[in-house]
Amino acid sequence: MAEVVIVEDVPAAGALVADEIARLIEGRPDAVLGLATGSTPLPVYEALHRRLGGADLAQVRGFALDEYVGIDPHHPESYRSVIAREVVEPLRLNPSQIHVPNGSLDGIEHAGADYEAAITAAGGVDLQILGIGTDGHIGFNEPGSSFASRTRVKTLTAQTRKDNARFFDSIDDVPMHCITQGLGTILQARHLVMLAFGESKARAVAEAVEGPISAILPGSAIQLHPHVTVVVDEAAASRLKLVDYYRYTYANKPAWQGL
Ligand code: GLP
Repeated sequence: MAEVVIVEDVPAAGALVADEIARLIEGRPDAVLGLATGSTPLPVYEALHRRLGGADLAQVRGFALDEYVGIDPHHPESYRSVIAREVVEPLRLNPSQIHVPNGSLDGIEHAGADYEAAITAAGGVDLQILGIGTDGHIGFNEPGSSFASRTRVKTLTAQTRKDNARFFDSIDDVPMHCITQGLGTILQARHLVMLAFGESKARAVAEAVEGPISAILPGSAIQLHPHVTVVVDEAAASRLKLVDYYRYTYANKPAWQGL
């Protein structure tokens, strides 16, 4: 089962996950990080900056989960721009080592296969950061996504476009299509770290961690992975049935184990 860690507040979650990433990079300077966008991972990147801001991270490699299709890559809300602004620049990563799926219409038919090949060539992802959508999507794998899916083009649901409209001038500007790592791709990362904060994520978290494994809730795919850490605040944990057990196991976690 996933290890569920209930933290006091959002900065504590950021610090906890940043510590784990720092440990990984210290042991392996060319570690491969799976990078997520959305608001949820931002405290991790901020904490990483505080912790490792002065370090030489030029060897670190990274793969973003997803990108909008047809968006100008220079648009401030393209995931390429977001990853550059929130992760690459503050941490002074080497831009040539950080990959984002190519959402440009030119060559979109083979962009998924190209991305898969790049992940494979890098030796796979060591630690994948994940958020979760209110409907349980991870990356942009919307409800109904195959658990065997690889990086490919998907149609965003009306709900996701509505959720993400806050980043654009109007909902009409939110792209209709995206290119996302598949659930099968995500499941191949060696360690999955899912974060969620706030009451609006409580249902998706409970179903992902404890619900039936079902394509209707793509986040439930994490139950198929042998090493998953779910970091949540009290509000996002509020619908978990085994909440006392999670607190108990974490309080009694062997010191040598790491996340
Ligand atoms: C987008 C991203 C997901 C992210 C989700 C939740 O759809 N593609 O990777 O998990 O939004 O976003 P937020 O963290 O802002 O709630």
